[in-house]
Amino acid sequence: MKVTVVGAGSVGATCADVLAQKDIAKEVVLLDIKENYAEGKALDIWESSAVNYYDTRVVGSTNDYSKTAGSDVVVITSGIPRKPGMSRDDLISTNAKIVKSVTEQVVENSPNAIVIIVSNPLDVMTYAAYLTAKKPATKVFGMAGVLDTARFRAFLATELDCSPKDIQALLLGGHGDTMVPLPRYTTVGGIPVTELLDKETIDRIVQRTKKGGGEIVNLLGTSGWYAPGAAAAQMVEAILKDSKRIFPVCTMLNGEYGMENIALGVPVKLGKNGIEQVIELKLNDEEMNLMKESAVHVRGVMKVLDDMNLF
Ligand code: 2OP
Repeated sequence: MKVTVVGAGSVGATCADVLAQKDIAKEVVLLDIKENYAEGKALDIWESSAVNYYDTRVVGSTNDYSKTAGSDVVVITSGIPRKPGMSRDDLISTNAKIVKSVTEQVVENSPNAIVIIVSNPLDVMTYAAYLTAKKPATKVFGMAGVLDTARFRAFLATELDCSPKDIQALLLGGHGDTMVPLPRYTTVGGIPVTELLDKETIDRIVQRTKKGGGEIVNLLGTSGWYAPGAAAAQMVEAILKDSKRIFPVCTMLNGEYGMENIALGVPVKLGKNGIEQVIELKLNDEEMNLMKESAVHVRGVMKVLDDMNLF
């Protein structure tokens, strides 16, 4: 199996590193436009193979997409990250052009690849990649929910002083401050979290999760990479191993949750064919209203993309 990660910045390089350590692909190609940058990162990662004990060949490429040819999965992390005071949406004018051009070259060289978008603003970049790739939505989708639920689970594990491994959580909607964590579908060792924590505490953790990306930006002056890179690698693993894992994933909706022509986070089953099922839940009125609010926000950013006349 061959995986390409486009963008050798911190998120892309972390994703490649985590993938190599999982030892599930024959080759990981890391590509960047910056001269020699991907080669340097790839070499550094490959030099850890004897210590971290894996066989996956990690190679770098300066914008030569022929090296990515025949990839089974491609992760697109290209674009600029946000700085303090910026929302993910402020990145759209720069990142939309980059994601369009990268997706075109990816699809030309790996027509059968499953494409995972990580670039921000995530939901609208997923929509842009979907329009560019001209593939079914089951093969072009975005990583956000795995990261956002990972943050939710980490915060809950800290609060409960328990293992994050025992926490299962679900989250819907866009990858922004309108995301919809769902405490009703969150369990700790099978126990509903609502039986372990009071409403006020859960609300506080939900709010922290919604602003989790911004919390890192405020601390570091740029966005995070360990959790986003690892989250993207976990989606690749589910596809390569055909493990049919259930994750919240950003996908184009076609009537599910009463919505159409929008990319939003919903629970899906991931396997070798990409998205093998979109799972529809019976949301209560409050949850559905939050999902609709999130959709309104994402549609506002889609309008900015439409006004750029790229498609
Ligand atoms: C985050 O939430 C970069 O959007 C990403 O950290």
